[in-house]
Amino acid sequence: MIRWHRLFLISIVLLPITIHCRADQSRITEDYWDTPIPFQNPSPPAPEECGACHTDKYTDWSRSRHAQAFSPGLLGQIVDYAEADATSCLNCHAPMADQQEPLFQAELETLAADMEGHRTDLLARHGVFCAACHLRDGVLNAPSASPAQAGPRVHDRVRIEPFLRDSRFCSACHQFDTALSVNGKPLQDTYREWLDSPYPEQGRTCQSCHMPNQAHLFSGIHDPDMVRQGLTITPHATGAAAVLVVRSTGIGHRFPTYIVPRVRLTGLLLNSDGRPLPDGYHEKVLQRQMTIDNGRWIEHSDTRLEPGATATLSIPWQEGGSCGNAVQFRIVVEPEWFYHEKVFPIVLEELEDGPARDLIKQEKSIAETRSFVLFETILPHDCVN
Ligand code: HEC
Ligand code: HEC
Ligand code: HEC
Ligand code: HEC
Ligand code: HEC
Repeated sequence: MIRWHRLFLISIVLLPITIHCRADQSRITEDYWDTPIPFQNPSPPAPEECGACHTDKYTDWSRSRHAQAFSPGLLGQIVDYAEADATSCLNCHAPMADQQEPLFQAELETLAADMEGHRTDLLARHGVFCAACHLRDGVLNAPSASPAQAGPRVHDRVRIEPFLRDSRFCSACHQFDTALSVNGKPLQDTYREWLDSPYPEQGRTCQSCHMPNQAHLFSGIHDPDMVRQGLTITPHATGAAAVLVVRSTGIGHRFPTYIVPRVRLTGLLLNSDGRPLPDGYHEKVLQRQMTIDNGRWIEHSDTRLEPGATATLSIPWQEGGSCGNAVQFRIVVEPEWFYHEKVFPIVLEELEDGPARDLIKQEKSIAETRSFVLFETILPHDCVN
C-alpha cells in the first residue's frame, strides 16, 4: 500500500533538480550541485571543526534552518521510503554521500533515540553544513581570494569559485523543476520569482539579502526581524474605515515564496470596553492554498505578494448598525502551517506506533510553536461625530 503522505511528498519533490540558464556556466559550476555530492577523502569535517576558527560563521549558521535541515519531520517521513526516494529528499536536506551512506546502515531506533539527545556522530544530522557548500574533491571553494597575509596559510587547497556569489548557487535547492507545475508554477519557484523581480537588475542576489556581509544567517520566514525588514506596514484611519496597508519592499520573491507558510492580516472591531463587536472580525490571507487529491495537486488560490505589491485590509467603523471605538490590527505568521495543519495530521493517522510516529509527533508540536505575531496595533476612533 502506498501511503498518502508518500504520494504527497513524492509529487512535491522527487524531481530532477535543475539549475537554470546552464548555457553561460563553466563546467565546474554545472557540476557543483550534482548530488549526492561524491565522497570526500578524508571525510568532511563536522561544522564544529570549521567553527573552531570561523566562530562567527559557525554561530550564525548553527541558528539557521540549514543547520536544522535534517529534522525529526524529515527523518520520520523518509524511514519507510525506498532508498532511492529517501536519497532524493536527502539531496537537498543532507546532500553529501558522506552524510547519506552511513544513514542507510543505521538502525532507525538508534537514529531516533540519538536525534533527541543529538548524541550521534552521523554527519547527516548537520543538514546543509559547511562542507556541503564549500568542499568538492577535498578542495575548499571560496568566493574570492582573501587578502594576502603574513605566515603560512591554513588552507592549502583553495579554489576561487565565483559561482558561490551567484543566485543559481542557491537555486539548486530552492527551485523545483518547471516540468511539474500547477497553474504554471512549480511548488517551489523562488529562483524564477526572483528572476521576474526588479532585484537581479539591482545586483541584489539571494546572498546579498540572506548573507549580508557574508554572514551565514540564512534568515527567512522563521525570523520576525527578517520578515519586518522586507515589509512596509502602514496602519491609518479614514473617516469611514481603519486601513492596514502592507507592501513588499525588500523581499526578492513572493511573500511567502513557499506553499507551507500562512500569513494573515487580521482586523477586529472593538466597542468602548475593548470587546469585539459581533461580525467585527475580518482577515486577509497571504498564501498559495493547495490541496492534493488522488496524487494530483490543486491550487485553490494564490494571494501571495509579489515584490513591490501591496495588500490592504480595510475595516469599516460601522458594522451592522453599531459603531466601533477601535480596531485592533495584527499580522500573524505561521511559517510551517501546511505541515502542522495538513501533512503531519494525515501522516500520524497512517503511521503505527513506533519511532517514526514519535518523530512526526515531536516535529508537529515544535512546528506549531514557530508561529508568531509580526505586528500589532490598535487604532482608536471617536464614535460621537
Ligand atoms: C585552524 C583554523 C581554521 C579552520 C579549522 C578552518 N579555517 Fe577556514 N580559514 C582560516 C583562515 C586563517 C583563513 C584565511 C586564509 C588562510 O589563512 O588560509 C581561512 C579562510 C577560509 C575561506 C576563504 C578562502 C581563503 O583562502 O581565504 C573559507 C571559504 C574557509 N576558510 C572555510 C572553511 C571551512 C568550510 C572549514 C571547515 C571545513 C574551515 N574553513 C576550517 C582558518 C581556519
Ligand atoms: C529541491 C530541494 C528539496 C527536496 C528534494 C526536498 N526538500 Fe524538503 N525542503 C526544502 C526546502 C528549501 C525547504 C524549506 C522551505 C522554505 O521554507 O521555503 C524544505 C522543507 C521541508 C520540511 C519542513 C521543515 C523541516 O525540516 O521540518 C520537511 C519536513 C521536508 N522539507 C521534508 C522533505 C521530504 C520528506 C522530502 C522528500 C520526499 C523533501 N523534503 C525533499 C527543499 C527540498
Ligand atoms: C548554504 C551554503 C553554505 C553553507 C552551509 C556554509 N557556507 Fe560559507 N559561504 C557560502 C557562500 C555562498 C559564501 C559567499 C557569500 C558571498 O560572498 O556573498 C560563503 C562564504 C564563506 C566564507 C568567506 C570566504 C571569504 O572569501 O571571505 C567563509 C570563511 C565561510 N563561508 C565559512 C563557512 C563555514 C565555517 C561554514 C559552516 C559553519 C559555512 N561557511 C557554511 C555558502 C555556505
Ligand atoms: C543543498 C541544498 C541547499 C542549498 C544549496 C541552499 N539551501 Fe537554503 N535551504 C535548504 C533546505 C533543505 C532548507 C529547509 C531546512 C528546513 O527547514 O528543514 C533551506 C532553507 C533556507 C531558508 C529558509 C529560512 C526560513 O526561515 O524558512 C533560506 C532563507 C535559505 N535556505 C536561503 C538559502 C540561500 C541564500 C542559499 C544560497 C547561498 C541556499 N539557501 C542554498 C537547502 C539548501
Ligand atoms: C531583496 C532581498 C531578498 C532577495 C534578493 C531574496 N530574498 Fe529570500 N527572503 C527575503 C526576506 C525579507 C524574507 C522573509 C519574508 C518571506 O518569508 O518572504 C525571505 C524569505 C525567504 C525564504 C523563506 C521561505 C518563505 O516561504 O518565504 C526562502 C527559502 C528564501 N527567502 C530564499 C531565497 C532565495 C533562494 C533567493 C534567491 C533566488 C532569495 N531568497 C532572494 C529577502 C530576499
